[in-house]
Amino acid sequence: MNTQHIKIDDPQAQEGELLQAASILRAGGLVVFPTETVYGLGGDATRDEAAKKIYAAKGRPSDNPLIIHVANPADAERYAVTNELYYRLAKAFMPGPLTVILPRRDTIPLSTTGGLDSVAVRCPSHPVAHRLIALCGFPIAAPSANLSGKPSPTCAAHVAQDMDGRVDMIIDGGESEIGLESTIVKIDGDGLILLRPGGITCDALSMVCANVRVADAVLHRLAENERPLSPGMKYRHYAPTAPLVLLTGKDEDVLAFLQAEQNRTRCAILCYDEECGALKHENLLPVGGRNDLQTQARRLFHALRDADTTDAEIIYAHLPPMNGLGLALYNRMIRAAAHTVREV
Ligand code: TXA
Ligand code: MG
Repeated sequence: MNTQHIKIDDPQAQEGELLQAASILRAGGLVVFPTETVYGLGGDATRDEAAKKIYAAKGRPSDNPLIIHVANPADAERYAVTNELYYRLAKAFMPGPLTVILPRRDTIPLSTTGGLDSVAVRCPSHPVAHRLIALCGFPIAAPSANLSGKPSPTCAAHVAQDMDGRVDMIIDGGESEIGLESTIVKIDGDGLILLRPGGITCDALSMVCANVRVADAVLHRLAENERPLSPGMKYRHYAPTAPLVLLTGKDEDVLAFLQAEQNRTRCAILCYDEECGALKHENLLPVGGRNDLQTQARRLFHALRDADTTDAEIIYAHLPPMNGLGLALYNRMIRAAAHTVREV
């Protein structure tokens, strides 16, 4: 397949290009588009064939459901059974990096939801995504635009590495602002179950709903026979080629360990900016300031992809804190590391 590459800096001025993207989607084709979290691999969420094409392009098992992207929170009404708590969440966090799991209506085929009776709804804030969905007039089903098992793409170059030749069009809308996928919650009575931490933190959710429970699989490895609340939790994710080891311990001990390792092995290091001066330059991947979790989130997937291009036989990174945005970093990194944590 010949993939068309376009760049959209100003969605208002470039409405013609967006109309072209919308017509590809309307015809059942696939378009990769930017969002504030990561790039999405989009198809018409109301069409069976589009979902099948998405799974094929991604190399993804078809029981892993897709998120449907709507232009306005109230559009969810047509595709899902909403309630008062959904609208409270929408008022606080939409458009933005939040996905809510709701009971599915028949307007969304089972192929889009991986056979589930629920559907994941998200209203992205990125102006290109927003305008594209609005022009389509139907919701866009979109997983992250990476090949299954690779880190989610946060720029068009990473999308092209994975999706060139597999989709009809790739829209370059610049670097993703957040860099990690959306927070996913399931409404459970008058409470919320956090299925995937992201840009909307637990603390922020708690301001809207007093009862927020973190699903076990967010922090822990699932047992062999355990059935996850979200199918995506059971798949291996974001796995770099070399093994990733997460380090914890006193700052000075971790730094001393890294210095010794640089002399001993070929390693790549996802380090804090402050550590750059004390480490050898080779295979060093700065992820942001020690306390700047936002920058760390924005750079993580980029750094993991870069780590894969080095000759490193092992990759080291810091174990993130488990509070605030740290929880989202922790969740992604612990899975990329297959839960390998080393205390130094
Ligand atoms: O930020 C994001 O959410 C990005 C952008 C493109 O919007 N999308 C994204 O999609 O990360 P994906 O497919 O890579 O991850 C969606 C996750 C999967 O782990 C899937 O299992 C879960 O959402 N999910 C989708 N529908 C679900 C449902 N009905 N019940 C439980 N989990 C669901
Ligand atoms: Mg994904």
